[in-house]
Amino acid sequence: MVLSTFAGKTVSVTVEKNYTVKNEKLMKWVDEAVALFQPDSVYWCDGSQEEYDRIAAQMVTQGKLIKLNDAKRPNSYLARSDASDVARVEDRTFVCSKNKSDAGPNNNWMDPQEMKNKLRGLFEGSMKGRTMYVVPFSMGPIGSPLSHIGVEITDSPYVVLSMRTMTRMGKKVVDSLGEKGDFVPCLHSVGAPLKPGQKDAIWPCNETKLIVHFPETREICSYGSGYGGNALLGKKCFALRIASTMAQEQGWLAEHMLILGLKNPEGKKSYIAAAFPSACGKTNLAMLIPPQAFKGWEVTTVGDDIAWLKPGPDGRLYAINPESGYFGVAPGTGDKTNPNAMATMKENAVFTNVALTPDGDVWWEGMTDAAPAKCIDWQGQEWTPDCGRKAAHPNARFTVPATQCPSLDEKWDDQAGVPIDAFIFGGRRSTTQPLVYETFNWDFGVYAAATIGSETTAAATAKVGEVRRDPMAMLPFCGYHMGDYFQHWIDLGHSIKKAPKVFCVNWFLKDEKGKFIWPGFGENMRVLEWIFDRVNQKADAIETPLGYAPRYEDLNFAGIESEVTPEVFEKLMTINAKDWQEEFKLREELFEQLKDRLPEKFKAIQEYLKLGLA
Ligand code: GTP
Ligand code: SPV
Ligand code: MN
Repeated sequence: MVLSTFAGKTVSVTVEKNYTVKNEKLMKWVDEAVALFQPDSVYWCDGSQEEYDRIAAQMVTQGKLIKLNDAKRPNSYLARSDASDVARVEDRTFVCSKNKSDAGPNNNWMDPQEMKNKLRGLFEGSMKGRTMYVVPFSMGPIGSPLSHIGVEITDSPYVVLSMRTMTRMGKKVVDSLGEKGDFVPCLHSVGAPLKPGQKDAIWPCNETKLIVHFPETREICSYGSGYGGNALLGKKCFALRIASTMAQEQGWLAEHMLILGLKNPEGKKSYIAAAFPSACGKTNLAMLIPPQAFKGWEVTTVGDDIAWLKPGPDGRLYAINPESGYFGVAPGTGDKTNPNAMATMKENAVFTNVALTPDGDVWWEGMTDAAPAKCIDWQGQEWTPDCGRKAAHPNARFTVPATQCPSLDEKWDDQAGVPIDAFIFGGRRSTTQPLVYETFNWDFGVYAAATIGSETTAAATAKVGEVRRDPMAMLPFCGYHMGDYFQHWIDLGHSIKKAPKVFCVNWFLKDEKGKFIWPGFGENMRVLEWIFDRVNQKADAIETPLGYAPRYEDLNFAGIESEVTPEVFEKLMTINAKDWQEEFKLREELFEQLKDRLPEKFKAIQEYLKLGLA
């Protein structure tokens, strides 16, 4: 039992803590949180399997989770969120730097003090009738010089379960903090206090949602949502928005990137990091299985969503995946498109907003060719294939431990990270962007990455299918002015001895009928091989107005020659001058928005490319 005071009021709560905490800052901050949120009880998470099973069982009893058929999907659960809480809320996400200009036009901004007052009003008493969980977590292997620690306070047991899978969580993190260790404080409340005797909602949340970052003081506050990146504060809030500001200060990069290992039949290995916007194929590429024609090649997975990259003593960039699990898009994931992901989620998985089959398993669009004759959709309604609705929400997700991934890289957990030889950038573009090209040099590469456009997906709230600029796939995640971020990229590349080569790809080109031209998924290996060989000085290329590109004979099309003929390949590689006039106009709109802090070099590079395409 502890007593805390807030606004002259004394709050009495029961506290359950099964280990010793020596960190004074942490103890004091938790006491303040108790006074602010006024929960019924406080629970310090230890991160054990027993704890996970216990909390999950409680949620099942309360109707908040459905236990799946243990014979089909051992130790797995289904969660259904409120229909108003299904994705990140970009328009309710704020970066509250002291000066508005430091947040940049890429972020919503409010004065930090004003925002704190507003949050105080929302947070005060918002955990009444609930348990306040203290969730200590490490982004990156505990103890690695590349890792950072956070502590999330939350009233959502769903968040607790997710954080245990997605981060290194619990007592071991508190131990590594010691007496004086520092951490990023993260406050989260679903904003649904309970009156005595009031029945809880299945997915409590609040119509008012606010996801807030204070970059200078490195604090995160989130109110009203229990979903994904809004609520698992280690992910986008810490590992991208706050970490990107730390990285700019300290000379490293925090990026929305997968990391994969690529080994050729001779045993030579390279690591590649690739940025694609939300729901544009990072998980798929990270877990790629090479087609038959690539006997002896191996693709291994280090991470599928976030990369932290720091210059190493040898002048190369070393990357870690700060997460320890995958929070992947379910729709479109199946045995044909991503068998490794399917194997990863065989057990110990939490599924959110997918459909429930009559035999107690899960289903979603794209999981199998044939839909089940009937099921219960993501909102709990009866569903049949002809009912006209989707069975799973388009942003339905699976949450699974990385260690279950069959293609997991041997160094995924390495404290030193893995050396990166190439960056790949891509978006979802039905026209304009060719299948692949290598940029001329680092500056052209940074320019190309900064000007990537992509059609929006259901992972964001913007209208799906609209082309927007999404620099480095970081538009919703860069915690400071995008112009400064571009300059930081340029500077970092010049400060290291061996900057990675930069490539652009587009898996999403469509024909006049709206059909994808490129087979994609495992077949992306054909492009990966060329990139690998370019990095290792083995592949040929021709010079195009945008950069170096492969000819038909430079890629291995064995097994898909009838699908990707030389004519199809030509379409895939077309750089259409008219489309590019339009593209440059859209890029200039971005430049106009960022003009105060846009790197000088970008305009010259764009003029050069324009001349080549005139
Ligand atoms: P976040 O987790 O939201 O950051 O996204 P992600 O980039 O990891 O998304 P994911 O890999 O789960 O992307 C899922 C979507 O991309 C699904 O709709 C897939 O069908 C589609 N997708 C992935 N790879 C390919 C590809 O090579 N070709 C095509 N056409 N679609 C693809
Ligand atoms: C994304 O939207 O890029 C995601 C999912 O990876 S979330 O964690 O919800 O941000
Ligand atoms: Mn993501």
